[in-house]
Amino acid sequence: MALPQFDVRYLTDEASMPAESGSGDGRGAVLAHRARGRSGGAGPSLAAARRASASVPAPSEHPRKRQHSNMFRYALPGGCFLRLLEESDAEELYALVDSNRRYLERWLPWVENTGDAEPILDFIRRGRKQLGDNDGFQAAIVEDAEIIGAIGFHSIDWANRSTGIGYWLAEDRQGRGTMTEAVQALAAHAFEVWRLNRVEIRVAVGNARSRAIPERLGFREEGVLRQAERIGERFEDSVVYSLLAEDSP
Ligand SMILES: CC(C)(COP(=O)(O)OP(=O)(O)OC[C@H]1O[C@@H](n2cnc3c(N)ncnc32)[C@H](O)[C@@H]1OP(=O)(O)O)[C@@H](O)C(=O)NCCC(=O)NCCS
Repeated sequence: MALPQFDVRYLTDEASMPAESGSGDGRGAVLAHRARGRSGGAGPSLAAARRASASVPAPSEHPRKRQHSNMFRYALPGGCFLRLLEESDAEELYALVDSNRRYLERWLPWVENTGDAEPILDFIRRGRKQLGDNDGFQAAIVEDAEIIGAIGFHSIDWANRSTGIGYWLAEDRQGRGTMTEAVQALAAHAFEVWRLNRVEIRVAVGNARSRAIPERLGFREEGVLRQAERIGERFEDSVVYSLLAEDSP
């Protein structure tokens, strides 16, 4: 599958974006992605992207629950959308992790450390800091105003213009191509908005469903890092997949 199939652009209002209950305050730029051909045109400049990232207000400016800043919105073709995670999402995200604990623990080492919502809140705060530091971001995957998973950039290596993506989805939301779309969207963002050269995904060798995502999107398998990740008491080998800017059409 060729990548990216999205056009990336910054908008200055939210009028054309999908509605979410209690969403948005209308300030600042909104990032929208639409299927190429429907919207056409080139993406924004890196400077515009950085200005937009820098304009995201601090979480403390949004104390009311469910009052999302929505500075970043990315409509996925299948009907879900991505938006930045906010501190007010911590309880909902924790409840989702908790109800999917056994399934998520199989491949995500951090799950065992989520005894309550506090570690999730810390994760969200780190994601907001990432955004402020121009070091990537963490996004909720939302369907019908409900968070069904998460996806984000591990960090950005600006010197080498490279980044990595991590993701998870609620067990009962698998099998519809949502995560494939979300990964495609973030890869397009990395190449078209940030003008990065490389996007990497590392997956445990035995995690077939996760490996299928980069494979479906045309990432190249580069090799195996032996026992690179500790999940619970076991060390897992990791497969490294990459997509380069020159791989994109
Ligand atoms: C990894 C994970 C996100 C994969 O979920 P997924 O549902 O398989 O991925 P997608 O949402 O992209 O859906 C792909 C499935 O939908 C199907 N599908 C339906 N419509 C589709 C479309 N338009 N495009 C792509 N796939 C589509 C695919 O055939 C595939 O189903 P299959 O595996 O039965 O063939 C999920 O299993 C998960 O969160 N696991 C636990 C955490 C984890 O492992 N995270 C990754 C760590 S590296």
